[in-house]
Amino acid sequence: MLIRNGRLVDPSQPLDAVRDLRLDRGLVVEIGEHLQPHAGEATFDASGTIVAPGFIDMHVHLREPGFPEKETIATGTRAALRGGFTAVACMPNTNPALDDPAVLATLAQLVARDARCRVYPVGAITRGRKGEAPVDFAALARAGAVAFSDDGNTVMNARVLRDAAIDALAVDGVFISHAEDEHLKGNAVMHEGAVSRALGLPGSPAVAEDVIVARDLLIGAETGKRWHIAHLSTHGALEALQHARAHGGAATCEVTPHHLLLTDETIRTAGAAGKVNPPLREADDARALRDAVRDGVIDAFATDHAQHTQAEKSGDLLHAAVGFTGLEVALGAYAHALPDLPLLRFVDLLSTAPARILGVAGGTLRVGSPADVTIFAERPWRVDPARFASKGTTTPFAGMTFARRVVATIVDGEMRYRDDERTPS
Ligand code: DOR
Repeated sequence: MLIRNGRLVDPSQPLDAVRDLRLDRGLVVEIGEHLQPHAGEATFDASGTIVAPGFIDMHVHLREPGFPEKETIATGTRAALRGGFTAVACMPNTNPALDDPAVLATLAQLVARDARCRVYPVGAITRGRKGEAPVDFAALARAGAVAFSDDGNTVMNARVLRDAAIDALAVDGVFISHAEDEHLKGNAVMHEGAVSRALGLPGSPAVAEDVIVARDLLIGAETGKRWHIAHLSTHGALEALQHARAHGGAATCEVTPHHLLLTDETIRTAGAAGKVNPPLREADDARALRDAVRDGVIDAFATDHAQHTQAEKSGDLLHAAVGFTGLEVALGAYAHALPDLPLLRFVDLLSTAPARILGVAGGTLRVGSPADVTIFAERPWRVDPARFASKGTTTPFAGMTFARRVVATIVDGEMRYRDDERTPS
């Protein structure tokens, strides 16, 4: 396939210029100007669009095995394609948890059968994600785990976490922190602040995140294990990260679209649709996160796509499930939050950086790399959950208008999603 006249934005080279891109047999084979199609070669006119290395979402819940009523590999990866993602890393809070090579083998079979994009499993840190006994890291890595996390739960026992980090030292996969102190969080359903007090709802204070981020960065530095902070949401956690880096720390972090763009005020109108862990924070936190993206402190964008059934997300905030769908709104929401972010930096956060952090292929359009490509454009659209491929149709972004959208998603040289033609994916 020859993709012509697009603005190629590839932070790995770095390159930001109008170029043609040739893909063949699953690889990028040529980048140039005025390339002519070979006989029989498909062409795609990318004039007026941006052609980037395929987006990688390093924080997605695909819900299988265990919760196919919420999402399946098929629906979740179709949603990924519509969001411009050519690869996703899936979190281990499945049933059973991704804590054993046999479970990873089951997942691999489902992925081979149903996945429409690449899927990289994140193994658990502890058995059953109970925070007690570390998994067999080497065995999980051999079975395909690219990283480790008890996501959804925090490993509350620092001794267990430190032992696990030491145990996993020789294994490549990064440790991903879900940072919420369970005791400080208690039975919270939103962020603790003026809004939770006004609504009379139990809140989780920002310090519940800050103390765990600080602890995990210290354990990461002391043990030498590579560390990554998931869905960082507070000003204090950012300060802890900067402190760690000032002392030579190399930990990385990600930020979600909802923490960049929404605040606890959203709960007043969105109610249960805005219930998520960590919770939507205050305007100062969201502003600090946006500044941190601009300043290069944040390494990656990640959605924490965490869908539940309509029934689980309806009703009152106290009982609703935690989390919402993210893959199909991500590109628009990130651009809405940071409209002036240079495109090279924007694509780095969505593609090159997640590939580097996870140590997986992709994140580049260099000749010889996998032909995973995302094409997007400045075209306004309105978030309509009825059109989602995901089974999860709850999002606090419903009804918002965004300016940037996905035009086409190419995985392994094959166009698997095309916006204008509604190619079935
Ligand atoms: O809101 C969330 N939902 N945060 C998490 O960390 C887990 C997720 C889920 O699995 O539903």
